[in-house]
Amino acid sequence: MRKHWIILLVGILAFVMGPVAAVAAEKELAYPEGYRSWTHTKTMVIDKGHKAYDMFGGIHHIYANQKALKAMQAGKPYPDGSVLVFDLLEAKSEDNAVTEGPRKFIGVMQKNAKKYSSTGGWGFEGFKGDTKERMVKDMANCFKCHEPKKATDYVFSAYRK
Ligand code: HEC
Repeated sequence: MRKHWIILLVGILAFVMGPVAAVAAEKELAYPEGYRSWTHTKTMVIDKGHKAYDMFGGIHHIYANQKALKAMQAGKPYPDGSVLVFDLLEAKSEDNAVTEGPRKFIGVMQKNAKKYSSTGGWGFEGFKGDTKERMVKDMANCFKCHEPKKATDYVFSAYRK
């Protein structure tokens, strides 16, 4: 008798949790494999005193895949499949030089107009340090800050020749 209850319970759990997990997974962005050999578009240093220092302090490099690069260079809206990576490293100051320290995280934006329609067509994710550990609980928090850049399809940075 007991066995039946356990089977029933497992069945109910699978029924309830299945769709929940599926919805979460459906929105998940893939880790941008190989982004270090994509095109580097620009670099910026965020120093102590900057309003975004707590989260974004350090040296960041921005990378674009082929689709994103073409749109960025042409100043056109980004097509589905465009991916942009914000690669943030600690900044170390030593002997009057600033050098790259360990990676803090990478921020990723991936375009899919339909899938991410509530956040301007962009999916947002963060991966901690050198891992594939996901950091973003609510994409809307990333989007809120990117939203004023509507004229450039919610992208802040531009290609530096
Ligand atoms: C406080 C405002 C703010 C928040 C919050 C924010 N960003 Fe950004 N993001 C920026 C700015 C400003 C840039 C441009 C940096 C540059 O020009 O080097 C940027 C750039 C980027 C880029 C490169 C493409 C672009 O727009 O230039 C990615 C990818 C990115 N952010 C991902 C994220 C993710 C993922 C989150 C949420 C974890 C997030 N951002 C949250 C302000 C923000």
